[in-house]
Amino acid sequence: MEHQVVLVLDFGGQYNQLIARRVRDLGVYCEVKPCTTPLSQLRAMNPIGVIFTGGPGSVYQEDAPRVDRDIFTWGVPILGICYGCQLMAHLLGGRVAAAQDDSAREYGKTETWFDTECGLFRGLPETGVTWMSHGDYMEKAPEGFRTAARSAACPNAAVADEARGFYGVQFHPEVEHTRHGTDMIRRFLYDVCHAAGDWTMEDYRRSAVASLRDKIGGGKVLLALSGGVDSSVAAALLAEAVGEQLTCVFVDHGLMRKNEGDEVEAAFSKRAMNFVRVNAEDRFLTKLAGVDEPERKRKIIGEEFIRVFEEEAGRIGAVDYLAQGTIYPDVIESGAGNAAVIKSHHNVGGLPDYVDFKEIVEPLRLLFKDEVRRLGRELGLPDYLVDRQPFPGPGLAIRVIGDVTKDKLDMLREADAIFREEMARAGESRRLSQYFAALTNMRSVGVMGDGRTYDCAIALRAVTTGDFMTADWARIPYELLDRVSVRIVNEVKGVNRVLYDITSKPPATVEFE
Ligand code: XMP
Repeated sequence: MEHQVVLVLDFGGQYNQLIARRVRDLGVYCEVKPCTTPLSQLRAMNPIGVIFTGGPGSVYQEDAPRVDRDIFTWGVPILGICYGCQLMAHLLGGRVAAAQDDSAREYGKTETWFDTECGLFRGLPETGVTWMSHGDYMEKAPEGFRTAARSAACPNAAVADEARGFYGVQFHPEVEHTRHGTDMIRRFLYDVCHAAGDWTMEDYRRSAVASLRDKIGGGKVLLALSGGVDSSVAAALLAEAVGEQLTCVFVDHGLMRKNEGDEVEAAFSKRAMNFVRVNAEDRFLTKLAGVDEPERKRKIIGEEFIRVFEEEAGRIGAVDYLAQGTIYPDVIESGAGNAAVIKSHHNVGGLPDYVDFKEIVEPLRLLFKDEVRRLGRELGLPDYLVDRQPFPGPGLAIRVIGDVTKDKLDMLREADAIFREEMARAGESRRLSQYFAALTNMRSVGVMGDGRTYDCAIALRAVTTGDFMTADWARIPYELLDRVSVRIVNEVKGVNRVLYDITSKPPATVEFE
């Protein structure tokens, strides 16, 4: 099926994929193309609209990214964002000025006034906060344009030539901090470009499957399936695309939550692909015996994981493609392209060095987490996989403080399952980013019945966060904490005390180790 397409022309900004994602969310297919793509190729895509992204440069720099002026003769609406807006102004005869002093620079949330007669802002409030991030600004709008928004430092925070369908905004409508930013993009797509809204996740699935088939052909694909959302959705997508050519290896290290291993197996073992579950609990627990230092534990688990995976891969023989469930935030965090490195992400690190394969496929590379979940649902994965919280690779080993034994893991699994069950029942799960139980290495005195106990303390942790770099401890109702506490001490043998962690990150981390 043919779809309308909006072209996102990439000038190197940080938020380009976020723009693409907003457009997709609004039901319009879009493609991000480098600004160096030949114009003839872009025109052949027959876009209904074009968005110029932001970028780090200044239009006056010698090597500033540009686009051929001819694009303005296509008769297609264009929305320029930040650098894209300045470039449009510059190419059409306006004047862009470098801020001489700090007063004309704007970074962050900025109070902005809108002309609600302008197509982009129609029906929206006349003032609102926008997210600005610019040194240069548009001093004079080009011929035919009028001012459509302003801020204290920016006389032309938005400009419009409505006759030609050209709009420029100095701020970033794609980021959450811009109030009604998504509405502005919606106005551009639907009122200016007259989009039909003919793009859905079902279409995404179809086209992703088609392009995977195209790329993989008759080749063999190997995927390390962790049971987390990303690798599960990647597995389901690849299974649909190439079926039996795919082998998923699920290493069950015995450090999973209650029933988790069986759930992963149930979701995948019946799909048309090769699913291998390696029950490696003994191996991992033997290696971990007596080790209580957190980093040592992580290292041992990481290495053992690779060993097991390598052995399985060896059994399968040479594969053509190693698949990974990398998603877009991982790509940004790992510092791909021009964006800065925030932290190296912990996907199944190091695997490519150990496995004999030709190429990596990352079918979720351009999707954000919630899009991945939607795609997972579209592919028929069960809610318990799709809605899964983030779960660390080293699993419960870093939630058993101190040395890890099977008994401790079992105790923790039960307590954690009770906590998660009660939280879900109370409707808290959607509001919170992550919540779990940890087994402290503290024993304390209690009284049960008429007897003294000297048992373990379970700590509960629940946090809210946007990016997991910082997190706040969650204010959950006392009654709920009470129910969880009563159930845990009654139902989990060996536990006589339940604590609730009221530390944010920083100074604490989300996990205990
Ligand atoms: P911290 O404890 O660093 O956790 O505040 C932040 C987020 O990362 C998860 N996490 C991990 N995820 N492998 C992973 O895949 C790991 O080794 C790992 N350690 C922490 C943690 O659950 C939280 O969501």
